[in-house]
Amino acid sequence: MTVADGSLTAAQVPEPATGPDEVLIEVAAAGVNRADLLQVAGHYPSPPGAPAWPGLEVSGTIVNVGSDDNAALLNAEVCALLPGGGYAQYVAVDAGLVLPKPENVDLVDAAGLPEAAATVYSNIGYLLRENAAGKRRVLVHGGAGGIGTFAVQFARKLAGAETWTTARSDWAEKLQALGTDRVVDYRNEDFAALAMEAGGADAILDVIGAAYFEPNLKALAQDGRLAIIGLQQGNAAQIHLGGLLAKRATITGTTLRARPLEQRRQILAEVFEHVWPALDAGEIEPVVTTRIPLQEAAEAHKRMAAGGNFGKIVLTAK
Ligand SMILES: NC(=O)c1ccc[n+]([C@@H]2O[C@H](COP(=O)([O-])OP(=O)(O)OC[C@H]3O[C@@H](n4cnc5c(N)ncnc54)[C@H](OP(=O)(O)O)[C@@H]3O)[C@@H](O)[C@H]2O)c1
Repeated sequence: MTVADGSLTAAQVPEPATGPDEVLIEVAAAGVNRADLLQVAGHYPSPPGAPAWPGLEVSGTIVNVGSDDNAALLNAEVCALLPGGGYAQYVAVDAGLVLPKPENVDLVDAAGLPEAAATVYSNIGYLLRENAAGKRRVLVHGGAGGIGTFAVQFARKLAGAETWTTARSDWAEKLQALGTDRVVDYRNEDFAALAMEAGGADAILDVIGAAYFEPNLKALAQDGRLAIIGLQQGNAAQIHLGGLLAKRATITGTTLRARPLEQRRQILAEVFEHVWPALDAGEIEPVVTTRIPLQEAAEAHKRMAAGGNFGKIVLTAK
């Protein structure tokens, strides 16, 4: 799979060499992420050292290891977080970015886990440490999306927080089944006013960016935290600093791919410790609703760009 002139073209890519800290995965499926669409459009190139073609997460089987220390991993079914290059038959990846396929999860569906689990955990994972159960209200924007469907389960089922989400009301039933307490239809309801009436949101996970910056600050409760991870509607926002001070608010912004390798390894290790048991037990699940053959990646990108999907899209290798 290659990126040429802003389009995706199926092509054989060379089987990568397996570095000393790496394992080689024969890919079963690759998760599709909005970053892939940006990359194909020429706005989000792979970091230095990573393959030039898209793909931030895969599932598959380990078919080679770069050092004897990892020999026990041979033939293991796994999923992995990548800096790029997942749209391929094989990927070589740092062994610290690989997690076992959870017991209760299908191998193909496992491709939809690493990016969502690591992003959500690294942005609102503090809720687990603070024992949010019964004490916190979390607002997840874009609850029907790949990140959102994981985030609402995380907030409600793992952290025990009262969980609100913005989404089309068409998805309300499915989101409630994932644990959402309140679905706000972003097309015709004012989430900031509703959250303020209810006492505010202690944590907000935002995938919208500039267009939601001001309403997010309104929606925050005292000492609330806003974690911005997506800029689907704009990059530049104005801030009313008085409101920020009065609320003692905390605003953070992160991108997972740009983090140093050590941080990504640490996040994956913590995700394995704190999130994987719930996946193994079937308490939470990857919400993969669309499987498309890898050769039709361009079609998958069109579907994601069009919106109106529920959960994750994955590309299957076979
Ligand atoms: N910073 C990081 O490390 C990181 C990591 C992963 C993802 N991200 C970013 O997070 C964002 C979401 O990723 P994703 O994989 O979940 O994408 P996705 O599956 O396409 O989901 C995006 C969701 O946002 C919803 N949405 C669109 N406009 C909205 C609005 N005005 N209010 C509320 N929801 C709205 C969409 O709903 P409709 O279908 O109704 O349009 C959709 O459900 C992307 O911008 C991505 O780049 C960041």
